[in-house]
Amino acid sequence: MAELRYPDPPLTDGTVLLRPWHPADARQRFEAFSDELCQRFSSPRLEPTTEPEVAAAFARNEQERLAGTALNLAIVPADDPERIWGAASVYDVDPVHARAAVGYWLAPWARGRGAATRTVRLLASWTFGTLAVQRLELTCAPDNAASIRVAERCGFTREGVLRSHLRFKETRRDTVMFSLLPSDSAR
Ligand SMILES: CC(C)(COP(=O)(O)OP(=O)(O)OC[C@H]1O[C@@H](n2cnc3c(N)ncnc32)[C@H](O)[C@@H]1OP(=O)(O)O)[C@@H](O)C(=O)NCCC(=O)NCCS
Repeated sequence: MAELRYPDPPLTDGTVLLRPWHPADARQRFEAFSDELCQRFSSPRLEPTTEPEVAAAFARNEQERLAGTALNLAIVPADDPERIWGAASVYDVDPVHARAAVGYWLAPWARGRGAATRTVRLLASWTFGTLAVQRLELTCAPDNAASIRVAERCGFTREGVLRSHLRFKETRRDTVMFSLLPSDSAR
């Protein structure tokens, strides 16, 4: 598969800006992610939970980008791009079926102001436009109320619950599946 190129210029709506991660972001990213809500809803199998793991994840993410399967971006304030607000990714990119998924988390200090909603809107428009994606998926735990609100605010349709979908912290977890189609976003 073709490598995924970082949007150039970076995606922004004037409030949030989505940029590549830099090695110097490792400490802030670790601090941002070390909070109770991020730990509760993210799988340690997928998200780094220690500072050295963050550096290793940057290298792994670059391999995914080159392989064309995922693009990982830092969510930063447009007027202070060295400050980390959170992380976003377009992942499970499948050019055969023109499908991809979007994921995100925010640092505690960046919540409650619409940064995740803005991020998903920017990424939806980019995946539909640049990647020609025809179906964008968003998944979360059934009890992740804040994430469900992000999906709803961005116009995603709730399709149902995938039972026992993930291996999650020594047990298994259901997943709510949302999707957005290009025709939805034009509504
Ligand atoms: C999921 C998560 C990113 C949502 O964060 P959030 O701050 O609630 O989401 P947004 O950035 O879109 O902000 C929306 C909130 O800001 C408020 N807001 C303020 N200005 C806003 C604006 N211009 N646009 C949208 N919302 C705005 C909304 O009212 C909303 O608050 P509410 O939930 O009390 O109604 C966050 O809870 C998180 O990081 N959780 C842990 C990790 C996680 O669960 N990731 C997702 C896995 S699927």
